[in-house]
Amino acid sequence: MTPSPQDCWTVLGLESSCDDTAAAVLRETGTGAAILSNVVLGQTELHAAFGGVVPEIAARAHAEKLDLAVEAALAQADVTLAEIDAIAVTAGPGLIGGVMAGVMLAKGLAAATGKPMVGVNHLAGHALTPRLTDGVAFPYLMLLVSGGHCQFLLVEGADSFTRLGGTIDDAPGEAFDKVAKLLGLGQPGGPLVEAEASNGDATRFALPRPLLDRPGCDMSFSGLKTAVLRARDALVARQGGLHAQDRADICASFQAAMADVLAEKTRRALSQTQAPVLAVAGGVAANQLLRAALEQVAAEAGARFLAPPLKLCTDNAAMIAWAGLERLRAGARDDMSLAARPRWPLDQTAAPMLGAGKKGAKA
Ligand code: KG4
Ligand code: ZN
Repeated sequence: MTPSPQDCWTVLGLESSCDDTAAAVLRETGTGAAILSNVVLGQTELHAAFGGVVPEIAARAHAEKLDLAVEAALAQADVTLAEIDAIAVTAGPGLIGGVMAGVMLAKGLAAATGKPMVGVNHLAGHALTPRLTDGVAFPYLMLLVSGGHCQFLLVEGADSFTRLGGTIDDAPGEAFDKVAKLLGLGQPGGPLVEAEASNGDATRFALPRPLLDRPGCDMSFSGLKTAVLRARDALVARQGGLHAQDRADICASFQAAMADVLAEKTRRALSQTQAPVLAVAGGVAANQLLRAALEQVAAEAGARFLAPPLKLCTDNAAMIAWAGLERLRAGARDDMSLAARPRWPLDQTAAPMLGAGKKGAKA
């Protein structure tokens, strides 16, 4: 039986749009929702040798692991499939093979149980997370910064997003990962670059702050990465290699440039929208320097700063279950014609974003 509108829904969420196979169970409470389980099976080791996510390998791994993730999520939540009221699944944007694996499983579960199913936009999952974690009211400004995404969204409703700007090339996490690669550090590069930077001099290398001289909230990070390459090559040519201090100084200089750009663009987005809340999501939101810079910008603008716990900032299925719940509450239902979409911009009116990105489509 599907719950009547006043009842609290128990929703199973599925996520498989990139390199995390995830399933979660969410139960509505009077005021929000409780995360009963949140299972994420990563694929980092499968892709490690290739320097990026390999779509075919990702799709196969999702197909193999999704049902295990669902089983684990149900067991950890201590609910049976029969006790699930609805299924929410990422239907895009992302690597199409993985998205298809999730949508097929959702359709199978919906057909077998007779429960309603809703397709969810992965970016909406990220963008609506502050409502799950903190019960934030609309409107608010969301900065999504991950290995695949980088955009400012004014979130005015569960299905109402305005994109104010985004990267025109690399995503910030992608830039962190490439810089790590240039310096011989491991992957994912963000945390390693941050650790190196803590011993470095951020003023040693004068790296560019791309697009700060142009109005608006668009960003670009590929030139910054090239500037790091040049700084590295100049040192190698001069001294035959890199000292540990060189590496630390490059990381600190790069991280400072990245934080400067994101902070200034956030300042503009806040002033343009007058949003009362600034929320961040995505793996790069773990960066302490960036977090402090954004917190400062929010304080200057008189806005509340919100960073959900990291586990809910990075790819997970609890956010998909929540976004699905918001759709279900609004009466949305999908049927067997639900399609997996490689691209699916949240803001249909904004100009398309460029680049496919190493982790699939950026929007
Ligand atoms: O959101 P996420 O887990 O996955 C997707 O991109 O979908 O983000 C991962 C990205 C990686 O590029 C990683 O290097 C970056 O987030 N990252 C960081 C930090 N922790 C993770 N970047 C900078 N500083 C960090 N502490
Ligand atoms: Zn994501």
